[in-house]
Amino acid sequence: MNTNAITTDNVRIFDTTLRDGEQSPGCSMSPQQKLVMARGLAELGVDIIETGFPASSQSDREAMALIAREIRTPTLAVLSRCLAGDIETSLRALEGAAKPRLHVFLSTSPLHREHKLRITKEQVLESVDKHVRLGRASLDDVEFSAEDATRTEEDFLAEVVKVAIAAGATTINLPDTVGFTTPEEIRGMFSRIISTVPGAKDVIFSTHCHNDLGLAVANSLAAIEGGARQVEGSINGIGERAGNCALEEIAMALKVRNAFYNLGTNIDTRRIVPTSQLLQRLVGMPVQRNKAIVGANAFAHESGIHQHGMLRHRGTYEIMLPQDVGWPDTQMVLGRHSGRAAVEARLRALGYLLEEDELKLVFEQFKALCEKQRVVNDADLQTLMQDASVSEGYRLSSMTISDVGNRANALVELSDPDGNRVAETAQGNGPVDALFGALSAATGVQLTLDSYQVHSVGIGTDARGEASLSVRHDGVEYEGTGTSKDIIEASALAWLDVANRLLRHRQAAPTPSEAAAA
Ligand code: KIV
Ligand code: ZN
Repeated sequence: MNTNAITTDNVRIFDTTLRDGEQSPGCSMSPQQKLVMARGLAELGVDIIETGFPASSQSDREAMALIAREIRTPTLAVLSRCLAGDIETSLRALEGAAKPRLHVFLSTSPLHREHKLRITKEQVLESVDKHVRLGRASLDDVEFSAEDATRTEEDFLAEVVKVAIAAGATTINLPDTVGFTTPEEIRGMFSRIISTVPGAKDVIFSTHCHNDLGLAVANSLAAIEGGARQVEGSINGIGERAGNCALEEIAMALKVRNAFYNLGTNIDTRRIVPTSQLLQRLVGMPVQRNKAIVGANAFAHESGIHQHGMLRHRGTYEIMLPQDVGWPDTQMVLGRHSGRAAVEARLRALGYLLEEDELKLVFEQFKALCEKQRVVNDADLQTLMQDASVSEGYRLSSMTISDVGNRANALVELSDPDGNRVAETAQGNGPVDALFGALSAATGVQLTLDSYQVHSVGIGTDARGEASLSVRHDGVEYEGTGTSKDIIEASALAWLDVANRLLRHRQAAPTPSEAAAA
């Protein structure tokens, strides 16, 4: 295969999110929801939308009518068994569609013939011939699917395909209905059938793989190598059991590895993530974080080595741009595995240009914070930067608060600016009053608060309390903040933040009485 040329030969994308996808447990959609999803699929640029199975439900008939009225660019397909009644219902449902396709299917494998349908090979051939002809009598676009094709005797499958083509089928689909095949097998099957069956070169061959062994995408790509030019699948890979082939993965595999496949699609890949998220919301089924292309971690990097590489050249650990599939950007997740380079880069982006020794200190505090929480976000870094300035004054080592009747006791242990341990206790009209009394005794600083507020930052298990204090002292206003999982500790940190500022201010510009006392 040529590995350099870029070609415009296209693979058709047949989306069955609204039919096979919708058949997966917990994913059913109302007609209105299907219409919303069909709009998203049309914007994404899929070539064919399979809207449902009209003979199976009134809801699918309504959905088809709604979609046909509005969606005019992609071909609209509906599924039918090889039954005259199904086909009649499907043809009626397709009325009004700008580009209608009838999709008829019949099982061909020995297991399905003997146990599900209880029919002979001859009856299969007769039924395919009869029902494909019936469809073609009304429509030019008829697809035939040999259900369980990959477990069908290949010589019999070839006969079925020959009959379907002779009866007028314009697309032949060879599904791996139970996700059983392997890439090598399916590549061989397509290539032999296409090269030997009369008329095969005049129709489009389609692949439809299920994901029971996690091979749906690999098998679909192998089928393309064997000559398939239509891929059936769904957004996020939803579908029966372990799902269908994930179309976003196919579109990106063909795009990123275009030099290998020499094939394109009509997909606007920047619409992939919005379409995936639309489906997740509609059916209430989120994709796993590490799902290729559309999972939250698909373009996120946490480990120090990877982040360092990414900062030097994004190609070191990314094979496509997140923007090309609709994400806003790469995510550098700061956490336990991150290194200094990534922390420094993020701080720079937040406007902090640090000297080497400052960065060293902040990085140590960052690592300590990572022991308490999984992810460190921008707000956490900003808090760390505030805390770094606290390091020059009194620092909280520990605190204990207890209630005694209506009163509270506080014991605080601090390290003073010279690194000596200071411990004091105080009583108050509640934990905060007692705490502030003990801090005052330990530092020798009296603060008369103008305001004291506590609010929550973040959500869920990572939520923390942020305390902010302001005081007026000798006509100067001082403000301080502290953040912790524990709001009393946050209050202590905020109090010390103000006290340290005040002490620094005093050192830099003592009042006459302070200068005399010094
Ligand atoms: O998996 C399958 O075989 C199918 C056919 C009905 C196309 O969904
Ligand atoms: Zn299927």
